[in-house]
Amino acid sequence: MDKFIVGGNGPLMGEVASSGAKNAALPILCAALLSDQPLHLSNVPKLWDINTTKKLLSQMGVSVTQTGEHEISLDAKPITTHIAPYELVRTMRASILVLGPLVAARGQAHVSLPGGCAIGARPVDLHLMGLKAMGAEITLEGGFVHAKASKLKGARIVFDTVTVTGTENLMMAATLADGETVLENAAREPEVVDLARCLRAMGAKIEGEGTTTIRIQGVKALHEASHTVLPDRIETGTFLVAGAATRGKVRVTNTDPGLLDAVLVKLQQAGAVVRTGTDFIEVDMQGKRPLAVNIHTMPHPGFPTDMQAQFMALNCLAEGVGVIKETIFENRFMHAHELIRLGAEIRIDGHTAITTGKDRLAAAPIMATDLRASAALVIAAMMAEGETVIDRVYHMDRGYEDIEGKFAALGGKIKRVGKQF
Ligand code: EPZ
Repeated sequence: MDKFIVGGNGPLMGEVASSGAKNAALPILCAALLSDQPLHLSNVPKLWDINTTKKLLSQMGVSVTQTGEHEISLDAKPITTHIAPYELVRTMRASILVLGPLVAARGQAHVSLPGGCAIGARPVDLHLMGLKAMGAEITLEGGFVHAKASKLKGARIVFDTVTVTGTENLMMAATLADGETVLENAAREPEVVDLARCLRAMGAKIEGEGTTTIRIQGVKALHEASHTVLPDRIETGTFLVAGAATRGKVRVTNTDPGLLDAVLVKLQQAGAVVRTGTDFIEVDMQGKRPLAVNIHTMPHPGFPTDMQAQFMALNCLAEGVGVIKETIFENRFMHAHELIRLGAEIRIDGHTAITTGKDRLAAAPIMATDLRASAALVIAAMMAEGETVIDRVYHMDRGYEDIEGKFAALGGKIKRVGKQF
């Protein structure tokens, strides 16, 4: 298992560029299955999960060509199978995003059930409910979802829980269905909007993305298209919180301030001066100790659950008490136990964590537990006295491109021991 050695250091200062959004690139790569003409993508982040998706699509017969450092071209014309095997799906739940496109474009799909993960059960019942409503025959056998439909038909689908990948899977399936599909209580995340933009470039007829009601008119076929993936708002937020937590001044470029309003409000409440431009955001703590903030995670445009851990790290040395409510996932406080090992004062009461800011944190060996939380541990380790060893950092490589290079560019003392993927 590769590890990071992180030295406690002073304020992070400087500028980093955001990469493309992982959670937009993943569904967009799978959208290539909807068409037998090429799809050309740019600003695709270099991440473990992207590699896994490329492997998954290639073993189905999709031709996947890395045409540049962040550019990929895909052509699903030569597809030979519609199976997403367990050994790939279990490493990345987002593989479920091949289900909708395969059923819509190829009439069938055999996708391994993703199973749970560290942060929760992560069921896909709403994905399956929607496909059934569109006429697919669904059976669950041997840990696989088997879905068949000669031709999906438009339907009105009401999600009883807001689901990001559920919305994405069914929006993709609906692009080739007969008639109109209406998705009610749809996810409004910017990554859903970016997928809709890409599908529209491919010839899909979609309106309402970014609202709770998305309407899709099925078309006969999709065509060749090019798309640039939007910036990663969670990576952006992670570096901004790191700047604020270490009392520094950090600018993130190649990003979009409109993607993370709720996060910027919290940074201001923590006492940061926040400056924004069309493609940058800067936080400046002016050397001051942050104030603890209260967090209540919600579907977009509410506060993103993927930023909860990072603010918990900020609260560890902030002034005052913070109350953090996690409403999306049932087990997303594992990072709290690691932060407590560094000396943080955190009390967990069900889905609520109460933080009391301390004057100092001290290095101790800790372990990354899930993708987004792992970056929170780096932030806390940078605020702790001494050298902290963080184990299982492969979680970070799944969702952050060159995280140690970017933190080092801000003055962070971070060294990787062991191999990167
Ligand atoms: C997406 O996961 C993201 N992943 C997650 O980021 C993110 O935390 C999450 O949305 C919430 O914003 C990708 O986009 C690849 P959900 P997703 O379906 O779609 C329940 C990362 O690695 N639910 O919106 O799997 C579910 O249990 C990850 O970047 C059902 O009950 O999340 C959860 O409580 C971490 N039935 C809630 O809905 C379903 O069929 C929201 O889950 C689907 C979901």
